[in-house]
Amino acid sequence: MNAPVLAPAPRLDSHPTLRQPQQRDGAALHSLIAACPPLDLNAMYAYLLLCLHHAQTSVVAEIDGKLVGAITAYIPPEQPDTLFVWQVAVAPQQRGQGLGRRMLRHLLSDCIAPRGLRWMETTISPSNQASSRLFTNFAVQHAAGCTTATLFVADDFGESGHEEERLYKIGPWDRAV
Ligand SMILES: CC(C)(COP(=O)(O)OP(=O)(O)OC[C@H]1O[C@@H](n2cnc3c(N)ncnc32)[C@H](O)[C@@H]1OP(=O)(O)O)[C@@H](O)C(=O)NCCC(=O)NCCS
Repeated sequence: MNAPVLAPAPRLDSHPTLRQPQQRDGAALHSLIAACPPLDLNAMYAYLLLCLHHAQTSVVAEIDGKLVGAITAYIPPEQPDTLFVWQVAVAPQQRGQGLGRRMLRHLLSDCIAPRGLRWMETTISPSNQASSRLFTNFAVQHAAGCTTATLFVADDFGESGHEEERLYKIGPWDRAV
């Protein structure tokens, strides 16, 4: 059975404000990711491209003009029914207050529902309990399915010592808004 897609989430307060990233956010996004291990820090240029090419499928959270959260995501060319979440980051001082959950919900109402996407995917390393809880709890709260499978084994990362990455597939979302 398809999971229902909720109507846009109500704005609980004005802090943090959620919006699409803009090109001017690239450097601040790079700094936010740097402050959020165990996330891999990618090149500044990659974050500029995300802000430029994938703004409509991503979200940032700001307080008084300062970036305190972000989800970078895109629709894989070979999976046009899927939103693939690349990185989720919440500034350390903002954690545990529902911001990660709120940003996922924002993508559900502002990206997945209007585009009629059916799946949300992400990868999580086995030791990242916070991320695993964020996504599995999100699936439960929205009555969606959540399956997991290995996507990248440790060897895929060469000699870097990177853990395996497991694919979490959440959905299917209903096409109705
Ligand atoms: C993972 C992360 C984004 C969570 O953000 P957050 O705003 O603190 O999460 P929320 O407050 O919205 O919590 C959402 C759910 O996850 C659970 N959760 C969050 N952090 C947790 C933790 N450290 N341990 C266990 N559960 C946790 C919460 O209990 C909550 O469950 P609920 O919906 O049933 O109440 C944040 O800890 C972070 O930025 N970590 C570093 C970067 C990272 O690992 N990103 C994810 C990999 S892509």
